[in-house]
Amino acid sequence: MNIAVVTLFPELVVAVGESGIPRIALEQGALVLSTFSPRDFATNRHRTVDDRPFGGGPGMLMIPETLSLAIDAAKASAPNARVVLMSPQGGRLNRAKVQALAELPALILVCGRYEGIDQRVVDVLVDEQLSIGDYVLSGGELGAMVVIDAIARRLPGVLGDAESVVQDSFETDLLDHPHYTRPDQWQGHEVPLVLRSGNHRAIDEWRMQQRLSGTARVRPDLFYEHGLDERARALLTAEWQHAAETNDKLGRLSDE
Ligand SMILES: C[S@@+](CC[C@H](N)C(=O)[O-])C[C@H]1O[C@@H](n2cnc3c(N)ncnc32)[C@H](O)[C@@H]1O
Repeated sequence: MNIAVVTLFPELVVAVGESGIPRIALEQGALVLSTFSPRDFATNRHRTVDDRPFGGGPGMLMIPETLSLAIDAAKASAPNARVVLMSPQGGRLNRAKVQALAELPALILVCGRYEGIDQRVVDVLVDEQLSIGDYVLSGGELGAMVVIDAIARRLPGVLGDAESVVQDSFETDLLDHPHYTRPDQWQGHEVPLVLRSGNHRAIDEWRMQQRLSGTARVRPDLFYEHGLDERARALLTAEWQHAAETNDKLGRLSDE
């Protein structure tokens, strides 16, 4: 997949490809990353890329000319790319959106700075606006890096074990279950016995119970979306019964 990023701070964006999964994706050629800076298209002595907003108000805006030239150059390098503006005014990024973007052949991520960009560039050149959450960042670069990382791990062949994506949080509207590694005792805390039992059916059931009860507790919105089939209802009931019995036992112990 070809991702071109239009940014005044290319050094920030390239850093995402220097380690971890995005680096593997780049090395494998599954991902091609390039950057285009509006400043390279500025013609005046100060290489100006911003100006004051019409109507007054605080801050500066990215001017349309240099920004649009950078987007045009990105488009020339990645024909048929979808142009996505990182913006708090966009639709919120989630798993389904990442998957849809990962299936595109090419993507141009436009990073705003200052108070944002001239609306005419949005109207003429941008296909879609995308937010990474309900808060305001100083620029779109961190958002673009989030998008690139999330896409990289979904590109075919990039993760060593494709199963790990399937088990990730959000894949089935549920959060992931807890994970444990060696040692089996650490600071007085023990790894659940079932995970050391070798009984794969019991391990699968325990993990599903944890996913269901954890999601119900932390993200009732997702849990509601997921719905409960018969197996899930039985697993959850057993888990809650077990928790209630444990609470009773602890209560009795503290009374004694
Ligand atoms: C300081 S922000 C501008 C905020 C804008 N005045 C507003 O309130 O909607 C500068 C740039 O950061 C990026 N940005 C800020 N918050 C973001 C978010 N939550 N998601 C994606 N991009 C964001 C956008 O590219 C934006 O143009």
